[in-house]
Amino acid sequence: MWPKSKSEACGAGAARSVWLGAFLIVAALPACRLDMYDQPRYEALEPSDIFADGRSSRDPIAGTVARGALEADPVFLTGMVNDSTFTDEMPFELTQEILERGRERYNIFCSVCHDAAGAGRGMIVRRGYKQPPSFHIERLRAERVGYFYDVIKNGFATMPGYAAQIPPDDRWAIVAYIRALQLSQYARLDELPADVRREIERAAGAAQADEKHGEAHD
Ligand code: HEC
Repeated sequence: MWPKSKSEACGAGAARSVWLGAFLIVAALPACRLDMYDQPRYEALEPSDIFADGRSSRDPIAGTVARGALEADPVFLTGMVNDSTFTDEMPFELTQEILERGRERYNIFCSVCHDAAGAGRGMIVRRGYKQPPSFHIERLRAERVGYFYDVIKNGFATMPGYAAQIPPDDRWAIVAYIRALQLSQYARLDELPADVRREIERAAGAAQADEKHGEAHD
């Protein structure tokens, strides 16, 4: 019933001649492992007469969840609300620390193709990989955060998914950083903090004055 132990076959040719035997013993030594590899066990799908249904494999007990497979917080783990709509809100409060973690992870995992600013001209693309769209196009600026989360987790067309390399909280940190990148290239003046706005207005005013000055000298 149990598969034959591999150790029974070991050393059978050792008696033929001293030299051949010595050679065989040396050659066979690595194959004579008697550790856990060599034990009574079933191969996948092998039949068994222990159970009434004749199968050696058992079904998971109803109501149990495999370790690591519990999707107790679907928004956090899928980026979707009600299995169908992408969420437009981060599932946890954003902090400076999380954004910085996002920048670090983005630079490691994404910038190689999407480049550091998200324009889609990373080194792998410059060496011939398909060029991704810029994160600064209108469509992706309008896209919900849950969508970006989904692309990281499951991939998108030619882009592979990163679920195996990037755990959920880091995926969200990267999404937050992509939003920061998008804002860095396109923000409405009235969305900016007052002091930043004043600085930009002052710089724009100075640039205009420079231009006029330049024209006067043309
Ligand atoms: C190996 C290169 C590569 C890496 C690394 C990569 N991407 Fe992409 N990404 C692509 C390509 C190529 C596309 C376009 C796929 C297509 O249209 O076939 C894309 C598309 C996208 C899109 C746009 C989907 C759309 O709706 O157009 C997003 C968002 C995105 N990637 C995010 C990321 C993030 C975040 C990371 C890092 C976790 C990442 N990508 C890592 C190559 C890459």
